[in-house]
Amino acid sequence: MYAQMVKSEKAIGGPELETFQARIDAGEKIEPKDWMPAGYRKTLIRQISQHAHSEIVGQLPEGNWITRAPTLERKAILLAKVQDEAGHGLYLYCAAETLGVSRDKLTEMLLDGRMKYSSIFNYPTLTWADMGAIGWLVDGAAIMNQVPLQRTSFGPYARAMVRICKEESFHQRQGFDIMMKMAQGSASQKRMAQDALDRFWGPSLMMFGPPDTESVHTEQSMKWQIKMNSNDELRQKFVDQTVPQADYLGLTIPDENLRLNKKTGHYEFSEPDWNEFFEVLGGNGPCNSERLAARNKAWDDGKWVRDGMMEHARKKATKESEVSE
Ligand code: 3HC
Repeated sequence: MYAQMVKSEKAIGGPELETFQARIDAGEKIEPKDWMPAGYRKTLIRQISQHAHSEIVGQLPEGNWITRAPTLERKAILLAKVQDEAGHGLYLYCAAETLGVSRDKLTEMLLDGRMKYSSIFNYPTLTWADMGAIGWLVDGAAIMNQVPLQRTSFGPYARAMVRICKEESFHQRQGFDIMMKMAQGSASQKRMAQDALDRFWGPSLMMFGPPDTESVHTEQSMKWQIKMNSNDELRQKFVDQTVPQADYLGLTIPDENLRLNKKTGHYEFSEPDWNEFFEVLGGNGPCNSERLAARNKAWDDGKWVRDGMMEHARKKATKESEVSE
């Protein structure tokens, strides 16, 4: 069905495209039943579902610490956060489905490695301080990217983002709170906080995608307002926001080239290791195979639930059609 839609849209061109672009330039929302170019649909499906997969796979590194949270309160907060991420995945899969692709198909493509999810979730969580670093840095980077996406041109995506952003901001604060407790704690707790920052800083910068000069999709995606900012713009904003927070915590950003440029008002910083980034995207990060194996196992283990629900729905539909006859 999706292939058919794309084919029929390819036949349409010229004036439709101009009207479409004019609607976007005027700030109108595009809704699922509106005409849209095949490339717009394809890019949205890719971006929204990659985002959904990131939320789902992103539960794994933090889920790793639920049983080992240091207090009941921390455990309850972490549980709530991880459940929120599942909810974000569901809103986003629903938004992607309005474009004519099924959630089952998207899941299949995640599980067999055809679709990507955020590179950051291929790193291990080694200590409790990593829960702080993920909330502070990873959710912090996610918000930086997602707040502008509330204004993205596709209605269902923009609306899903509103609720997601509210929850991400709670996630970021709980992470910062963990970091603060550890940074102000014993010497070994402070060392753990610094070590978590050291390991997550580079991968957090990579979350914004490759440098603009190497980004395949940015130019067209910004024209269509699928993306509102370039990768480098958001990365710079993230650094500018996060460095003073690290100072407040008394932690050191692991970058000897980091300095405030007084003329521009922005921090200058080192590029992350882009070779490492492309290795992780290619499936060779520290936890890629572990993450995919965990998702495949969850899918296989859940088969009896899906089968039961489908059977229940089938029986209900048969009963209803018998009553109406
Ligand atoms: N991890 C994995 N893949 C990445 C990536 C990353 N950090 N950055 C870029 N890529 C991929 C792109 O998807 C694209 O892949 P493809 O063409 O092979 O499908 C390729 O690298 C080239 O990069 P581009 O810059 O051209 O790609 P985009 O224009 O799509 O920009 C993006 C990348 C900025 C991540 C953009 O897709 C985006 O804004 N996505 C929406 C937000 C999102 O997905 N965030 C993920 C994190 S969600 C999260 O963190 C959960 C929270 O709870 C913590």
